[in-house]
Amino acid sequence: MSPRRILVTSALPYANGHIHIGHLVEYLQTDIWVRFQKLRGHRCVYVCADDTHGTAVMISAEKEGISEEDLIARMHEAHVRDFSGFQIEFDNYGSTHSQENRQLCAEVWAALRRAGLVVEKEVTQLYDPEKKTFLADRYVKGTCPFCKLPNQYGDSCDNGHTYSPTDLIDPVSTLSGARPELRSWPHLFVRIEKLHDFLQQWTQQGGHLQPEVANYLAGHFLGEPLRDWDISRPAPYFGFEIPDSPGNYWYVWFDAPIGYMASTLQWCKRVGEDFDRWWRDDGTEIHHFIGKDITYFHCLFWPAMLKTAGFNLPTKIHIHGFLTVDGQKMSKSKGTFVRASTYLEYLDPAYLRYYYASKLPPRVDDIDLNLDEFVAKVNADLVGNVVNLASRTARFAHTTGLSPRYPEDGGLFERAARDGEAIAEAYEKCDYNRAIRLILEASDRANQFIEQAAPWNLKKDRAKHDQLRDVCTVGLNLFRQVAIYLAPVLPRMAEQTGQLLNQPICRWDESKTPLVGKPVNRFQHMITRVRAEQVQAMIQASREPEEAERPAAAQAWDDGDEPLRAEPLAPTISFDEFVKVDLRVARVIAAEDVPEARKLLKLTLSLGGSSRRTVLAGIKGVYRPEQLVGRLVICAANLAPRKMKFGTSEGMILASGSGDEEIYLLYPDKGAKPGQRVH
Ligand code: 2FM
Repeated sequence: MSPRRILVTSALPYANGHIHIGHLVEYLQTDIWVRFQKLRGHRCVYVCADDTHGTAVMISAEKEGISEEDLIARMHEAHVRDFSGFQIEFDNYGSTHSQENRQLCAEVWAALRRAGLVVEKEVTQLYDPEKKTFLADRYVKGTCPFCKLPNQYGDSCDNGHTYSPTDLIDPVSTLSGARPELRSWPHLFVRIEKLHDFLQQWTQQGGHLQPEVANYLAGHFLGEPLRDWDISRPAPYFGFEIPDSPGNYWYVWFDAPIGYMASTLQWCKRVGEDFDRWWRDDGTEIHHFIGKDITYFHCLFWPAMLKTAGFNLPTKIHIHGFLTVDGQKMSKSKGTFVRASTYLEYLDPAYLRYYYASKLPPRVDDIDLNLDEFVAKVNADLVGNVVNLASRTARFAHTTGLSPRYPEDGGLFERAARDGEAIAEAYEKCDYNRAIRLILEASDRANQFIEQAAPWNLKKDRAKHDQLRDVCTVGLNLFRQVAIYLAPVLPRMAEQTGQLLNQPICRWDESKTPLVGKPVNRFQHMITRVRAEQVQAMIQASREPEEAERPAAAQAWDDGDEPLRAEPLAPTISFDEFVKVDLRVARVIAAEDVPEARKLLKLTLSLGGSSRRTVLAGIKGVYRPEQLVGRLVICAANLAPRKMKFGTSEGMILASGSGDEEIYLLYPDKGAKPGQRVH
């Protein structure tokens, strides 16, 4: 088969929020698919960008007192860091606020105008006279006109009634608190109905959409005339001004998907590729990965825009469901709304890559992150099954090397090589759940072989050296097949397998030929067991109090002076005296009770690398050991060791409070690293 040319995108994340584990379902699903295609030898390019325009970014920037440009630059950096932490590898990660995007928006716009699809209509909307801006539905609150529930948003109430913001009783602008007024303004609309026949055909034929998505569109939208799409917003708006309509801006959902092309164009300029080869050439496949909430934009507007402007249409739009955690919507107060960066402070990204892969079906179903199952699966499948296969053979093979010819293995290698096609087919269809099941079955069979051959017994008998080498050769080759099949999901493990066996994994088809006659390097640990305490610590760190739990602002600042009276300030010291205390960020890597002591917990702190401190901390009254494992704390790292009744303490961790029931540990802000000095 000749290599395919494939362009892949994930939905562009908004620039006004951080990446969280819900987003990661999609970016991991896409990254796995892209890595799979590359491993199969296809030309595959993965582009994405930040979605930077619109009212939400304007409001966030204003709240923070910075420019929109500064806000999106900061978020760009954070997004790139989070993605790379999860080993999500884009060929280009751009921004919709780019020169390339402005140019392509103008091109698509000119085509829509030429095709006579743009019409102007007056729109009457609520207007904030203080902020001098029209108000989108979510920036108006008032009483529901149906059930009279107060404090409801402009489009629907908590009891499920839907209405227009102009129907709200006593509406107020959430931006200023002012009472909004009704005002009219001319908007530009796209007459998408003119493309109804094309969209009917494109959505229902050719396999561009999952069957349930095609049915949903047919049942909900295509059975009646498509409504004109309001594509412009009046100033003030953070976005691109429409060249032939001064004072009006393209609505964020117009320029966002064009951002896919703009990011491709940036990549083309950087690597010297021809943009038209990727967007105006039937030989290129275009695959979009998105969540089900944005089906309408991608399956109706987007193909309509592409068709009108003469660009390639998507080959396939892969739509996934939402993430729930322990069966419920992600929740900030429960701590299940976990940011990517928080996850990475506590857990190995390989765990989530694997867990999501093991759950993802080819359908639009929601997926559930069950935290107990997460721990069980990672430990049983990855550590107990897959990595175990390598560790219990590699330690002997380090001395024997691989046999010069591949030994008899009862057909195991052949069978797993044949299974490669079914596994590949499952990846291709985004049926990762099936792919993982097939891979684990191969790993199970290999483990049974090792169990029976018992290399640990052969090792005891020098006369059985060749037999030992043969068993390890089989075991490591079966492991390598598994590592190749899992490489899209676990790229780091594939790299480590390459290093172990002196042969990098580059192609899927390498699973068909056994490696022989090679030296084997010393086994380095690949994936360690996950502990439930680490997961709990991550959830704990993600907890944000509900609005109602938070003290009102005035109350929060009304701080009494009891603490200062109870413990007056110490005499002034010089700066030189202060810097003698070496305060460091440290991670609690183990915590245990000291049963004989009333207050003490014994903590093992890591200052990064192999630097450790054992600290006895009097915090038992408030903290349980399992709450602490994985957490970052601040530690006085150069205190002379102190002999105590229950052992020696090699430092202190910082906390405030009077002791017993009142102890507040100090945690560094997100992003701090063990070993960093606190100044
Ligand atoms: O729903 C969202 O998060 C949007 N930012 C996705 C945009 S995808 C594309 F159209 F750019």
